[in-house]
Amino acid sequence: MKFFIDTANLAQIKEANDLGILDGVTTNPSLMAKEGIKGAAAVRAHYKAICDIVKGDISAEVTATTYDEMIKEGDDLATIASNIVVKIPMIKDGVKAIKYFADKGIRTNCTLIFSAGQAIVAAKAGANFVSPFIGRIDDSNWDGVQLIDQIAQIFSIQGFSTEILAASIRNPLHIVRCAEAGADICTCPLDSILGLLKHPLTDIGLAKFIEDSKKFI
Ligand code: G3P
Repeated sequence: MKFFIDTANLAQIKEANDLGILDGVTTNPSLMAKEGIKGAAAVRAHYKAICDIVKGDISAEVTATTYDEMIKEGDDLATIASNIVVKIPMIKDGVKAIKYFADKGIRTNCTLIFSAGQAIVAAKAGANFVSPFIGRIDDSNWDGVQLIDQIAQIFSIQGFSTEILAASIRNPLHIVRCAEAGADICTCPLDSILGLLKHPLTDIGLAKFIEDSKKFI
């Protein structure tokens, strides 16, 4: 399973990249706004800065919601760097835009996926990635990881090559459960990635080793 970081914060992207296990980055308009990025030129420059840090896939989301505007925006985003993946929302015009980009050889990530049916349509249109939002499904009193499991089964049975990019990850256990359920990628906040490293018995064991090492060094 690949690890992406879900942020537009350059310091966090660098920290995750330095760990040596980062395969890509996802952003969205909310994450860009959080960093105070404003205006088309600043957005472009920010994506370029992310692409300069991470060599893997970088999802850049369109802000338009009509077909014509989405393909114009996506065509432009795709020129920023060869590792840009155009992120398109799961709406009717978005499906048409995914097909347009697939025909042009521009890679897409279909976002805001909340059902297996939406994932099937995105895959049929030629999306390279589908992003089910598991944390938001949990928020609505349903088990988001079950959706990953269902989509993984369908894609396997049907032979879809679209990758399942589990998004809206909120904690380390989400990552482990998505790995079990067959997600190809988890896109996570830095805290959730670092949370995977933690175990109190590791800390206790290390403290004892350090203490004992003083006896013979
Ligand atoms: O990748 C989508 C993600 O950013 C949404 O996360 O926590 O806002 O549901 P969240």
